[in-house]
Amino acid sequence: MRDNILASIDVGSSKICTLVGELTPDVDVRILGVGITASQGVKKGMVDNIQEATEAIASSVEKAERSSGSRVLSAHVSISGNHVNSLNNRGVATIPGRERPITQQDIDRAVEEAQALNLPTNREILHVVPRFFVVDGQEQVSDPVGMYGQRLDMETHIVSGSLTAVQNLTQCVEGAGVQVEALVLSPMAAAQAVLEEEEKRQGIIVADIGGGTTGIAVFVDGAVFHTSVLPVGGYHLTHDLVAGLRAPFSAAEELKMEYGSALPSRINPEDVVELEAFGGKRRKETSRRRVAEILQARVEEILEMIYIDAKRAGFDEMVAAGLVLTGGSASLPGIDELAEQVLRMPVRIGRPRGIHGLADTLNDPAYAASVGLLHWSILENGHNGHKPGISLKPPFEFSGVLDTAKRWLKALIPQ
Ligand SMILES: Nc1ncnc2c1ncn2[C@@H]1O[C@H](COP(=O)(O)OP(=O)(O)OP(=O)(O)O)[C@@H](O)[C@H]1O
Ligand SMILES: [Mg+2]
Repeated sequence: MRDNILASIDVGSSKICTLVGELTPDVDVRILGVGITASQGVKKGMVDNIQEATEAIASSVEKAERSSGSRVLSAHVSISGNHVNSLNNRGVATIPGRERPITQQDIDRAVEEAQALNLPTNREILHVVPRFFVVDGQEQVSDPVGMYGQRLDMETHIVSGSLTAVQNLTQCVEGAGVQVEALVLSPMAAAQAVLEEEEKRQGIIVADIGGGTTGIAVFVDGAVFHTSVLPVGGYHLTHDLVAGLRAPFSAAEELKMEYGSALPSRINPEDVVELEAFGGKRRKETSRRRVAEILQARVEEILEMIYIDAKRAGFDEMVAAGLVLTGGSASLPGIDELAEQVLRMPVRIGRPRGIHGLADTLNDPAYAASVGLLHWSILENGHNGHKPGISLKPPFEFSGVLDTAKRWLKALIPQ
């Protein structure tokens, strides 16, 4: 792999998506190759069959290699599942004496203290994302390097996951011949691809409603405040159609994709569609409005779960910019309007931004996390191996002349 070539693998419950991208001087990502395969051995965001998942990942990687004409040796990989936990924690570094300004080493000490959490041995820290600094009680300092103070507090968002889930996923990716550069929490990656800086500043919830999971990331004052993964998604919508209409899963999935809606009141009650039936009867008719009613009930439930999860994290009135829905299930017609009615906040559908080349294929909410992973990879590779967690201030700088620590900070802290 050439130096400026980057790769990401989004291991979803419905599809595996490998992207190969290229860093360009204008700091955009140019997509060189895409490999999408149906997922196998992954349920609710977690690997549940090593061999199947390894094969599916290998096949997605191979497709991306063929379409890009380059080998994928290492990649940023998404991790999901409701084993993931997040919390905000402060690390403190005292600065002895009054003679010298705060340095990068002081920040490193504060980061270290913030992640000294006493986690059980079966958990692993996935991210330590700096949110803001406090210097001698002065809140929301974005870059303390060079400032004078005796006490540096660093507020961080920490994400941890089950060690077993981490090991299983890593084993599958490595089994497919790819080294894991970093695991990135799926909704953090999705947020990276769909959010505007202004939305992060004003406060916003991102919900990535995929096949088996709904990933949530809440941003307040420009920084990530809460993340989690709920074990519900589009699979449950389809499953409700299976139960409600007594149709095989594949027929219900097709029906959902082609005729589904989250707003039954918009559908003519006379409208009927045909679908495959159980029990030897080849086809039967069903009302489109009935289909939408079934979908609406489950979508409302998922939306309420998103709201409760974000509220439990304590955001209250802090998310003025409302909600961005992304992930494959955000393509269900009417889901944004239903969400506005149910949650009484502004809602938009998030498509991945900042991609060039093959944009048509990827210009779909289902690829938010995949594209976000590639952005993430750029950030980390563009920062000389530092692991900055998340960028809160794209576009990113690669000029190579700036002091690394400064760039690292700039990428992390809302200015
Ligand atoms: N037009 C559509 N209407 C309704 N649902 C859709 C539509 N297009 C895709 N979906 C649903 O989106 C889901 C797949 O979304 P996505 O590709 O984001 O999942 P994933 O990333 O593989 O899974 P996860 O992130 O949950 O592990 C499927 O359940 C599919 O039925
Ligand atoms: Mg996903």
